[in-house]
Amino acid sequence: QRPIVRLLSCPGTVAKDLRRDEQPSGSVETGFEDKIPKRRFSEMQNERREQAQRTVLIHCPEKISENKFLKYLSQFGPINNHFFYESLGLYAVVEFCQKESIGSLQNGTHTPRTAMEAAIPFRSRFFNLKLKNPTSERSRIRSSNQLPRSNKQLFELLCYTESIDDQLNTLLKEFQLTEENTKLRYLTCSLIEDIAAAYFPDCIIRPFGSSVNTFGKLGCDLDMFLDLDETRNLGAHKTSGNFLMEFQVKTVPSERIATQKILSVLGECLDHLGPGCVGVQKILNARCPLVRFSHQASGFQCDLTTNNRIALTSSELLYIYGALDSRVRALVFSIRCWARAHSLTSSIPGAWITNFSLTMMVIFFLQRRSPPILPTLDSLKTLADAEDKCIIEGNNCTFVRDLNRIKPSRNTETLELLLKEFFEYFGNFAFDKNSINIRQGSEQNKPDSSPLYIQNPFETSLNISKNVSQSQLQKFVDLARQSAWILQQEDRDRPSISSNRPWGLASLLLPSVNRKSFTKKKSNKFAIETVKNLLESLKGNGTENFTKTSGK
Ligand code: CTP
Ligand code: MG
Repeated sequence: QRPIVRLLSCPGTVAKDLRRDEQPSGSVETGFEDKIPKRRFSEMQNERREQAQRTVLIHCPEKISENKFLKYLSQFGPINNHFFYESLGLYAVVEFCQKESIGSLQNGTHTPRTAMEAAIPFRSRFFNLKLKNPTSERSRIRSSNQLPRSNKQLFELLCYTESIDDQLNTLLKEFQLTEENTKLRYLTCSLIEDIAAAYFPDCIIRPFGSSVNTFGKLGCDLDMFLDLDETRNLGAHKTSGNFLMEFQVKTVPSERIATQKILSVLGECLDHLGPGCVGVQKILNARCPLVRFSHQASGFQCDLTTNNRIALTSSELLYIYGALDSRVRALVFSIRCWARAHSLTSSIPGAWITNFSLTMMVIFFLQRRSPPILPTLDSLKTLADAEDKCIIEGNNCTFVRDLNRIKPSRNTETLELLLKEFFEYFGNFAFDKNSINIRQGSEQNKPDSSPLYIQNPFETSLNISKNVSQSQLQKFVDLARQSAWILQQEDRDRPSISSNRPWGLASLLLPSVNRKSFTKKKSNKFAIETVKNLLESLKGNGTENFTKTSGK
């Protein structure tokens, strides 16, 4: 049946899809992305949003025949593409060629009734497929992975690569968002948009942050914001007529209160009516008010904000930096993984460094190379044309949007060298005096006494790492120095690939205790420290604690 579905599909869209599949995500080793004209962020966002609007999410029975499933669905219209994934059950994401097909599918469905529970009827694009005559055998369905490999598998992969450059590229390939995961992210936003549209028919729910800035790792959260610009601007240009479009609106004392009210209502709505939305928390007193919830079917932890256009612009800036040179993403992914492995970052908010701050640090470091690998934000501003001009809430967010107008770097340094130099650079950075500033690409005097100061590129009076404590910064510096040292030692004594011993990037990702046992010959000091720590824990807490420590 599959070929029939293909034949029915729309030729234009398939061709576009193939082109996208060849684009950056899979091209780290060959660098051939340099030859393909690079798409603007806004083009990519619009195209994916439009795709998501033609897509449905279906919870399928465990035993299902893929062919019959597609044959059944294609009676509602031609299918452009589909994939299956597992997340507490089997799900299918099906993209039709035309939006109208979804209406026909919805018309053929009904809201379930059970004796024990009452359903709240909501016409969504999230369906549950119940077969009258279930297939006894499940045909072989290729299920797409939405989570990265286990640490053990990653270590094995890294140990058998031939160079540190290969290790960084392998880690990127394993952890980056797949085409399918990206589609699922846009679809989830689109499903939430359907709910928000009950109040704001012209709203758009836009993904931002690591889901779209090319630095997202499989499993990362889904940041989304409610864009009400269409509603605000509706009729703004109409000057004739007796009625103003919004003839009577409620007013509140500040923009912040308006944001809180909107999010409060949406939070309630997601909680009470949103199919698959669970664990809804309204965090309205934060600096940036948000609603946090789990979208059960996709498995995404979602953060919904509103009025967050600047964050979308910083996602666009990172997208540009990520696309300019294939070394950028490889280095950022490795540094993020390294930080996570040593608990420098956490999924719980607190005094730790965030992934966003780490990405800024890598970008800054790459701007400081000679010749620079990345241009400063100020130089991207000088390349901007009239169309790129952008002021948001009084902040100048102008920079060149067309990637093809930015000259590639002449720098040819290897990833191995960059990794070493990154640790050297930040292991010796004068954090007590200087701030990190990607706008100018140079160190500046710190305007206040925050331990780590990274200037927000657009709201230039803000520090994006204001939350970081002195002790967390010190931990980062100590680990950076230790990692630089390990890489230096390895230069002298590199294990052979066949030895199956963690080396290079793999040894940097080992939690300190394990790493010590692997590098014991090279570092007696570390071995002594481990024994000391174990003895301390025995002395203080008895044998129970010893088991805990050594079991980690
Ligand atoms: N952001 C910001 N200023 C901050 C924190 C966040 O402008 N102090 C914006 C950035 O655009 C960031 C986005 O909000 O990309 C989402 O924040 P967050 O989820 O913390 O970071 P991500 O980049 O999405 O990284 P992660 O994979 O850890 O979620
Ligand atoms: Mg995020």
